[in-house]
Amino acid sequence: MRRAPVTAPRARLPWWQRGVLYEIYTRSFLDEDGDGVGDLAGVVERLDYLQWLGVDGIWLTPFYRSPMCDFGYDISDYLDVDPVFGTLETFDVLVAEAHRRRIRVIVDYVPNHTSDQHPWFLESRSSREGPRSDWYIWRDIRQDGGLPNNWLSLFGGPAWQWDEQRQQYYLHTFLREQPDLNWRNPEVRHAMFDVARFWMARGVDGFRIDVAGAIMKDPDLRDNPANQQPNPSGAFGSTWGAQLHVNDFNHPDAGGIWRLFRTLVDDDPGAERVLMAEVSSEHLPTWLRYYGDRLDGFHQPFGFHLLHHDWARSSPQPVVERVEAALPRGAWPNWVLGNHDQHRVASKAGPERARAAMLLLLTLRGTPVLYYGDELGLMDVPIPPERVRDPWEWTVPGQGRDAARTPMPWDPSATGGFTRPGVQPWLPLGASGRGLDVATQSADPASMLSMTREVIRLRREHPALAMGSYRSLDAPEGVFAYLRRAGEERMLMAINFSGGAVDVAVRQHGRVLLSSTMDRSDSFACELSLRPFEGVVGVLES
Ligand code: NOJ
Repeated sequence: MRRAPVTAPRARLPWWQRGVLYEIYTRSFLDEDGDGVGDLAGVVERLDYLQWLGVDGIWLTPFYRSPMCDFGYDISDYLDVDPVFGTLETFDVLVAEAHRRRIRVIVDYVPNHTSDQHPWFLESRSSREGPRSDWYIWRDIRQDGGLPNNWLSLFGGPAWQWDEQRQQYYLHTFLREQPDLNWRNPEVRHAMFDVARFWMARGVDGFRIDVAGAIMKDPDLRDNPANQQPNPSGAFGSTWGAQLHVNDFNHPDAGGIWRLFRTLVDDDPGAERVLMAEVSSEHLPTWLRYYGDRLDGFHQPFGFHLLHHDWARSSPQPVVERVEAALPRGAWPNWVLGNHDQHRVASKAGPERARAAMLLLLTLRGTPVLYYGDELGLMDVPIPPERVRDPWEWTVPGQGRDAARTPMPWDPSATGGFTRPGVQPWLPLGASGRGLDVATQSADPASMLSMTREVIRLRREHPALAMGSYRSLDAPEGVFAYLRRAGEERMLMAINFSGGAVDVAVRQHGRVLLSSTMDRSDSFACELSLRPFEGVVGVLES
């Protein structure tokens, strides 16, 4: 019998929809010049690894000129590479070499704030009348001597800093060294759009927009109301959570700006660039707004829905179902298990569930974004007080992000092959000698790295996995089972997030293509047996 062709739901999906993205925390990938800090040349050197792993695109965290108060998210020159990371020429080599391997390059774009050392800010603070005086958000002291409003800095304390020179307060949603730009000023927009044009001309394939929800504030800078139902364990801690951030975050006026930005990014359709938003709102309707009313906003807001999932307590199925049900037609999901602001998923879920979670990430409908090192099952590294680098740990103890930003272990040596022997890396490496390194795991066909690579390979081979539809199936408690389908091809995933063995009634015949334990390829009929924390990818027979 002639099999019907396996067709994608649409004739051809753009690369970022089909593909797997990989976040590189640039400071921690590979230190090529031996100063203990990762750099762009290090990324170039590891492109072969990324190609071997099978990723389609990389997102590089900021490598621009910066005093590094917030490790690159405080930019003093948007149009140059900080010497610690290399030069513009190294960046050009990186793009060319990545493209040669069919790997796309997404760069971080930080619109909400600059460094207080940026020439724009130096000029803005120098006078109340000068040409850039309105490029940042300046306010007088209130008549009663108070701060302009009750807004808070995410990194602790009020969001206002008194400036002696200008005798006014300026707004900083993050560190006081990160003053917020005034996007209501059209000159700021032009200048920032020019920044995007500069990097597009250098060949980048997309942007990850830092705190996309913060660029527009309430025009009258009204106080935030108190949160009547504060969630002390919510994102960013209890002080921040004591307010409803309706006036400083997710202001609807930002929508128009992002639509313009989308037009800019889409201006060369052949380039297929992608625009991705960092949106940390846990409120689904707010998050959905970032796609744009007519899907004319971001191609994708990052899907952080699983970041705060309690893996030890329940299956992630309800989280996925909630998002799938809410997405408007045509909106493509995005999934993330970890990033440079969060604890490592393997630390939160445990090593076994982390494998199951990786299998989930790579087989859900949507674009997966894999955080560097998660393919090894890397855990948070305990940071002794004298090695703390993240300013957030100093302002709000316990919120520090260093533990998830530690150097990539390439081999089992003391420096993990991250830097030269004898050089102290900028953050400590953890767990060397425990098999959590690329050399050890790439030689082990059952390792987490081998599993990750194999699932990525299956995604490429099976359109149903990369592009197909999604439907969940009934399954026993703790098991998440779902079907992905494209044309005649039907793939079945069954993932056991519980610590007990379980039989899943699938009422279909099929074949296991991969198990998270990398040790089976059996056929099944009607029922599928799963061991504790085991996940399988199967293909159903018609
Ligand atoms: C979000 C980034 O992911 C985080 O690392 C940074 O500190 C803040 N934005 C400020 O730019």
